[in-house]
Amino acid sequence: MEIDRDFVPRITLSDGSTIPQIGFGTLAVQPDRKSSDANAETTANIVSQALEAGYRHIDTAQSYGTERGVGRAIAASGIARDELFITSKLANDNHAPDDVRRSVNQTLNNLGLDQLDLFLIHWPLPTLYGGDYASTWATLTELVAEGRLRSAGVSNFQPAHLDRIVAETGITPVVNQFELHPYFANDEACEASRRHGIAVEAHSPLGHNRAPLTDDTIGQVAAAHGKSTAQVILRWHMQHGHIAIPKSTRPQRMHENIAVFDFELTPDQMASIDALNRGPTGRVGPNPDTYEG
Ligand code: A2P
Repeated sequence: MEIDRDFVPRITLSDGSTIPQIGFGTLAVQPDRKSSDANAETTANIVSQALEAGYRHIDTAQSYGTERGVGRAIAASGIARDELFITSKLANDNHAPDDVRRSVNQTLNNLGLDQLDLFLIHWPLPTLYGGDYASTWATLTELVAEGRLRSAGVSNFQPAHLDRIVAETGITPVVNQFELHPYFANDEACEASRRHGIAVEAHSPLGHNRAPLTDDTIGQVAAAHGKSTAQVILRWHMQHGHIAIPKSTRPQRMHENIAVFDFELTPDQMASIDALNRGPTGRVGPNPDTYEG
């Protein structure tokens, strides 16, 4: 199915930029996280297929080792720069302000870009760097002022982490990207992000371990609409106003995951999926309060 890419809605961020509500995630598209030529070729092929499928928002990270491959796919695509929205994230080794600056230059070089659309602190690491994620955040805001980054945000920030960086710098991230799916609604992170006017972006939107993909309730909703369970989960994200970045290495699924704008879940169907939330036990990935990278 051909998707009109203009059909993917854009969310307006607090600094006035807009981000396509569905992006393409690149975690684990490679066999490992090395930034090798072979891996760059693998990622370039997969991201080229995603661009072909209509994705214009690509999510990478210093730690995924996928930046070079994303850069190759961008260069080969011929797509106008202003049609693309590229996000990367700061590796856990690079939180010291000098390392932020050096690594952002490397990221831009890897991607072949002069400016990144969005750059996130990947993890708050509150138990490392003397607990000082605020200086790291302050450095990102300087890079926005200098034009290296168009927008700056955070990832995996808990309410206390958000409160602190806003209090210390007076500058609010535009996005908080964190684990969020039907089995883990992450209410606290959602509420705190919204309270600060920060857009909520779901990583692992399908559950990462794929468990929600075989859920009976979601399966029934999917059958009622003649859609796949993945499409119903992504539609649930869209109707909640989340940005979501599903990953797939398979072109058929890339197409499927972006084709979620021609049907609508009823309030009862939304509520039945909301009710699947397992609270903290639904979390699949690391807990940001204790994660040390
Ligand atoms: P694959 O890359 O083989 O398609 P998340 O984005 O939540 O981390 O989920 C990604 C996982 O879900 C990957 O294992 C991916 O596998 C799988 N996946 C992605 N899209 C679909 C889909 N439409 N149907 C089933 N599984 C999917």
